[in-house]
Amino acid sequence: MKSITTVALILGLALTAVSCQHSQTETPASTATSDPNNLPVYNIPYSATSTLNKADKKVLILSASPRRGGNTDLLCDEFAKGAQEAGGKVEKLFLDDYKIDFFHEEHSINPDTVMTSGDQAPLLVKKMAEADIIVLSSPVYYMNIDGQLKTLMDRCYRNNGLAGKEFYYITACADREESTAETAIFAFRGFVVCLPDPVERGSVKAIGMGRKGAINDSKYMAEAYNLGKTI
Ligand SMILES: Cc1cc2nc3c(=O)[nH]c(=O)nc-3n(C[C@H](O)[C@H](O)[C@H](O)COP(=O)(O)O)c2cc1C
Repeated sequence: MKSITTVALILGLALTAVSCQHSQTETPASTATSDPNNLPVYNIPYSATSTLNKADKKVLILSASPRRGGNTDLLCDEFAKGAQEAGGKVEKLFLDDYKIDFFHEEHSINPDTVMTSGDQAPLLVKKMAEADIIVLSSPVYYMNIDGQLKTLMDRCYRNNGLAGKEFYYITACADREESTAETAIFAFRGFVVCLPDPVERGSVKAIGMGRKGAINDSKYMAEAYNLGKTI
């Protein structure tokens, strides 16, 4: 009896993993190179240069920290500066300004379903679908991303407009271990790998950044600015 339960559990987990790959993504090409700055989990295709053959690239920056003017928010501003100088049409959204309801079963039938009055998730997901490049940004919260961004990610479920986007990642944490920053990168990538044909373009992982504003005197500001210029 116990072994039947174990087999059923393993089968269930395997099916769950397969359903992410099959319902929302193509399996990434095995020849893809990974971002040299990130752990090679998932093998999401990486490109150091733009894969988009257009002049006016739309860049959407999702600044998810609730701390306005905090470390990741300032890195987003630097990225925006660089991207604007590189000719991008940049829009930065401070997620805490928006009302994003939790995902519910009704959303899997119609992703545009608004659960409560004023729910702005469909508006945000539409902006993501209209963008060529999406910057996902969050501080590390308990070895993960924060709730604002995770809630928005959940609301992207079954949205058909998120194929072929380029992604950048920005995170900051108090810890001085790069492996702590990688926990946020891992969460960003868990979302991105479930979208069709994504491309990773790079990341900023700011470690040792506990205090608000600590980022100002760090090398990460220039890193974010220079990364923005690569669009
Ligand atoms: C709720 C909460 C959880 C946190 N969890 C972690 C953590 O697990 N590891 C860590 O190194 N820092 C953690 N931090 C610190 C933040 O990641 C750090 O202060 C970061 O610079 C905040 O970015 P922000 O200024 O953009 O909000 C946490 C902070 C908060 C408020």
